[in-house]
Amino acid sequence: MNSIERKVRIRNMDKLEKLLEQMSLKEKINQLLQLPGSYYENDSFLTGPAQERGFCEDNLKLAGSVLSVSGAGTLKALQKKYIDRHPHHIPLLFMADIIHGYKTIFPIPLAIGCTFEPEIMEKCCAIAAKESAAAGLHVTFSPMADLVRDARWGRVMESTGEDVYLNSCFARAAVRGYQGENVKEKGKIAACVKHFAAYGAPEGGREYNNVELCDATLKEDYLPAYQAAIDEGAGMVMAAFQTFNRIPATANKYLLTDILRKQMHFQGVVISDWMAVHELVLHGMADTDKEAAMLAFGAGVDVDMSTAAYADNLEKLIEEGEISEKDVDAAVLRVLELKNKLGLFENPYKDADEEEERRVVLCREHRLWAREAAAKSFVLLKNESGLLPVTDRAEKIALIGPYADRKAMISAWSIFGEEKDCITVKEGLLEAGYLNIEVEEGCHMIDGHMQLGGLARGSVGFEDEEQAGQMYKDAVDLAKRSDKVILAIGEHRFQSGEAASRADITIPKGQQELLKGIYQVNRNIAAVIFTGRPLDLREVEKYAKAILIVWFPGTEGGNAIADILSGTKNPSGRLSMGFPYCVGQIPVHYSEFSTGRPASTLKNGSRFGSVYMDIPNEPLYPFGYGLSYTEFQYGGVELDKDIMTGSEEITASVTVKNTGNRCGEEIVQMYLQDKTGSVVRPKRELKGIEKVSLKPGESREVKFILDENMLRFYTKSGEWDSEPGTFFVYIGKDSDTQNKAEFELVK
Ligand code: GLC
Repeated sequence: MNSIERKVRIRNMDKLEKLLEQMSLKEKINQLLQLPGSYYENDSFLTGPAQERGFCEDNLKLAGSVLSVSGAGTLKALQKKYIDRHPHHIPLLFMADIIHGYKTIFPIPLAIGCTFEPEIMEKCCAIAAKESAAAGLHVTFSPMADLVRDARWGRVMESTGEDVYLNSCFARAAVRGYQGENVKEKGKIAACVKHFAAYGAPEGGREYNNVELCDATLKEDYLPAYQAAIDEGAGMVMAAFQTFNRIPATANKYLLTDILRKQMHFQGVVISDWMAVHELVLHGMADTDKEAAMLAFGAGVDVDMSTAAYADNLEKLIEEGEISEKDVDAAVLRVLELKNKLGLFENPYKDADEEEERRVVLCREHRLWAREAAAKSFVLLKNESGLLPVTDRAEKIALIGPYADRKAMISAWSIFGEEKDCITVKEGLLEAGYLNIEVEEGCHMIDGHMQLGGLARGSVGFEDEEQAGQMYKDAVDLAKRSDKVILAIGEHRFQSGEAASRADITIPKGQQELLKGIYQVNRNIAAVIFTGRPLDLREVEKYAKAILIVWFPGTEGGNAIADILSGTKNPSGRLSMGFPYCVGQIPVHYSEFSTGRPASTLKNGSRFGSVYMDIPNEPLYPFGYGLSYTEFQYGGVELDKDIMTGSEEITASVTVKNTGNRCGEEIVQMYLQDKTGSVVRPKRELKGIEKVSLKPGESREVKFILDENMLRFYTKSGEWDSEPGTFFVYIGKDSDTQNKAEFELVK
């Protein structure tokens, strides 16, 4: 055994408790501290941010975990040095934000949500785990399971959208992908589900802002996806930054103990978000870090991410009887258990292996999968007169726009991914055999006044008006002498992600001007849109014949886009979040309540309904919507019986036919509506999905089994139960379908 193995031995639960008994209070408290990996990357630890934050040498020596540093060689060296110095040779945990891939970057989670295939999420996370484990990481701060119904919020890109059922399916699949059956196995890492709870509903869509939700909405809409991840065995939960019931989640005992521990039965580690313990002072919940530490620890936060609040104050708080050493022991034991589950006491390096890292990172198999997943995540919103696919490789194609030949196809949350590894649209189209392509950027990515929060490395070049004018002219001239235009436009990748809330969710004005200019000389415009959020696409919808949403497609983006534009692959993505008519409609989601004056009851131009005076109620493109290069026809919804008793099931079936002239995949969606309840019930809720692949002319009967569990909700008495009465089953291609049947629940 090498020196490191002599120092750490196999431990199981009672040995962990024995280890805990041997640890000093200082050692135990520092197990609850997580430090930035940069503090270890050079020996000048005690200068700069570390010193400003009040850390000392002992914190470096005893901290329980580290975040945001990776690399097999780096982490092995760090682990060895740390264990050698630690009094009980307890290994460090290495954690990082592997949000949608490690080095091989996959589509953003909002895009993967559009595949309506949780298996795709599972495989992306399994590959991310394999690459990051080889690079020495143990835990990822993922999946982000926050339900989001507000496209102004920049972190919508990290979510899988607006739907409770879909988010739960994807959260479960992500944990399965990261952790597998046993997180100790090679190529597996622990998942940390975040941000608990309801971070996706900030008022005004403004980052870190207060959340106002009633308990029923919290429990019925926002908690299920976290619960799904916890039921799948997620090793950690991260507390959210924002307030709920006017108490920051970091100090919210109702959320972190009453709900998370007692009702949702989570037994793993709860970690704060970045410096969130100290932020309790800024929230106005505490006057000092000591008070903040007391509130956070008392609420149920085990690990303090990147502040010295716990390390500096827990001992005093124990002495003063504000918290108990018994509770500190319980928190430390959860951290030790996580390390034990990962097998770090047997092998502190786990899978860190330079050779394996070189072999698996960005390997051909992973790239091919990234390409497959990206193509399945794209959503075709419009395709007038079958402009797409562009099958004639000899056609004169004008490839125009800031994304025409730009590698920035990964999101702001691709911490270890690199733009240089990405395939551009131009590269993808050339690779796909397009012979007659000319490229013009046409305009800058963002408008001069736009701010990117200091994240944009280098200039985005918008300051030179003359240059911008020439770019525009060259692009319009090119469009004029071309058969078709592929216009690659969209948000800058730093216009979404954390701290990227936008009140204007249109594409940058310069890009809109370019689109209009091209439209004057060529109507055959296919807009390929890069975005981290649903956008207000009314202007694009006016001028583009085809609209393909590619989100931030990841490392293989250009190849995947070429696969779809060429028709090699048929688009099958469906919106996991509706695109609003405009920002004024937000929050908008399909599972809304009827209200006492639904628009459908308005007669003779009456105004007294739940409607706007100036826009429609409906989003521009609804949840579940997406086109294919073929067409699908649905038969009526058939039920094998129209009465459901408590134990009996009902089989709902529908026949789907491919009436077009090419193979295609259709995502059959099943929604249920509870006509009346002891509380108001959503107009409909997604309860089942089935992806079918059909050849031209082929039909398939798709069945959904309905059971009483699907009908449960939090009743007026707060019980999770179903109530007798009339239900409607909708089965169709998106959340607007009127294809329905009716049954009665009798209890
Ligand atoms: C960030 C994010 C959180 C992330 C953490 C560590 O502020 O809110 O999602 O996991 O800090 O980087």
